[in-house]
Amino acid sequence: MTIPTLLSEQLTETLRTILGEALPSEFKAAVTPSQDLRFGDYQSNAAMMLAKQAKMNPRALATQVIENFGDSEIATLEIAGPGFINFRIKPAYFAERTARMLTDDRLGVSLVQEPKTIVIDFSAPNVAKPMHVGHIRSTIIGDTLGRLARFMGHKVITDNHIGDWGTQFGMILWGWKNILDQNELEKDPIEALLNVYKEVNSRCKEDESLLPLCKEELVKLQGGDAENLEIWQKCIAVTKIGLEKIYSQLDITFDYWLGESAYNDALAPLVDDLVKKGIARESDGAICVFSDGFHKPQNDPFLVQKDGEWVPVPAIIRKADGGFLYATTDLATLDYRTENFNADAIWYVVGAPQEKHFKQIFDIERMRGVSGDFRHVAFGSILGKDRRPFKTRSGDTVSLQDVIDEAVTRATAVVEAKSPDMPAEEKAAVAKTVGIGAIKFAELSQNRMSDYIFDWEKMLALTGDTAPYLQNSYVRVRSIFRKIDGEFTAPKSLTISENAEINLARLLVRFGEVVPATLDDCRPNLLAAYLYELAKAFHSFYEACPVLKSEGAVRETRLALCELTARVLKKGMGLFGINMPERM
Ligand code: ARG
Repeated sequence: MTIPTLLSEQLTETLRTILGEALPSEFKAAVTPSQDLRFGDYQSNAAMMLAKQAKMNPRALATQVIENFGDSEIATLEIAGPGFINFRIKPAYFAERTARMLTDDRLGVSLVQEPKTIVIDFSAPNVAKPMHVGHIRSTIIGDTLGRLARFMGHKVITDNHIGDWGTQFGMILWGWKNILDQNELEKDPIEALLNVYKEVNSRCKEDESLLPLCKEELVKLQGGDAENLEIWQKCIAVTKIGLEKIYSQLDITFDYWLGESAYNDALAPLVDDLVKKGIARESDGAICVFSDGFHKPQNDPFLVQKDGEWVPVPAIIRKADGGFLYATTDLATLDYRTENFNADAIWYVVGAPQEKHFKQIFDIERMRGVSGDFRHVAFGSILGKDRRPFKTRSGDTVSLQDVIDEAVTRATAVVEAKSPDMPAEEKAAVAKTVGIGAIKFAELSQNRMSDYIFDWEKMLALTGDTAPYLQNSYVRVRSIFRKIDGEFTAPKSLTISENAEINLARLLVRFGEVVPATLDDCRPNLLAAYLYELAKAFHSFYEACPVLKSEGAVRETRLALCELTARVLKKGMGLFGINMPERM
């Protein structure tokens, strides 16, 4: 159990002794980390809240709490301001906790009590359409959520819902038959398909007769034409090979690749069912879902305000020409995941512009009586230094492969400057770890809802909240252990007394609180900020407290704190899919 949970339980019990029946039976006193250490490690406003309801003096209630709390081995309590209760954790308790962490593989992170089956839908690029920079965000955030949820004990299913059945195939099919360069296709399939798509797209703009020809190809594909189906399958196969190449460099894998086309056969029956149940109806020849009036207009995803009035924005699930849409596929996908995977939760890591789409999908599920932890894990855009969408000099979207290559090149220079004598092979491996780590950490340290500026210098700097800084901190800790004689053996108990030791122990112990909170909110930046704080606390500790030159129990304790710092940094970064080099 984490420290705030323990304190909360004890505090709730104390309040029950004082207030008796007056305390609501389900009441749980909130205990949160203090913003400022001058007010202790944790604080609670429970006395203030309850006193207000009971028309008591809040400071008087807080005083009673402190008198009744008893002699705690965990913390000393004090009143602050109008009736806050502050908890200062005793150094001996930090020592006990850190000693326990030394023999715990999970480093103080408890498994969830009720594991869920969570499907994580992320990355999901569209075949032969430019893989926009937004995919960096979805791909890296989604992978991290999967790692976090697995570590917490959930059953996780990662699914790459690639866009393999869009209208773009009309143009690709025509292009494949008329302008594709087979050589280029073999060299770089994704690039070749992308070029075909771009070329046909621009030709369509100049030549009006071309678009109908592309549409014809699409209709043939949808009608099951053998030749077109074969080309379509080849397109998907080469795209997958190209994507796998990128994912493997990023150390990212998927349990499934159930693209949009996997649901083709489920779409017609789904629409029929929604019509039969009265959830969808015909409008101008199309089949649509309108608001059922369940929500207040301002929360209703099927309404928008126009000139002071609420007007309907239905979800179209079948066009007048019989074609199905993105929304139809997502409804069928959700059915599949709840039925076949028994998913309790489905998390969609998709950019903020699709907010309305997901609100509508989840609301249609409510109308159908399907419930679950369905979340749109949204994110903002990646910007260039000019604060406009991140593009190449010539204005093209930047391919993920180019980003990876540049990161590794730049990281090579960093490693070169730091360790010119490192063997070439090791240098290359470290540069890869540092470069890819830098991209990932730059992403994960952002609040996902904000736009952020893609800044090479900043993300590869050896100072500040960057992967190289954290990796270098890890390397420094590890180097201490290369200087001791023999193996490090963990002591049974620690003696913590110096301020810098207390600070470091406080942060180490907090790992068990931060990891679950990061997953609950789907906010990797919480863990990123924590790891940065931990590394800084380590450096302050290392400056203030000699490790190798100390002796006896002090030395044992300090070495143990170093050991735990290394383990937590490595585990924490591992949850981001970032490796730690042993030297750099
Ligand atoms: N292919 C889509 C796009 O690039 C993302 C798909 C996200 N997942 C989903 N189930 N809709 O915008």
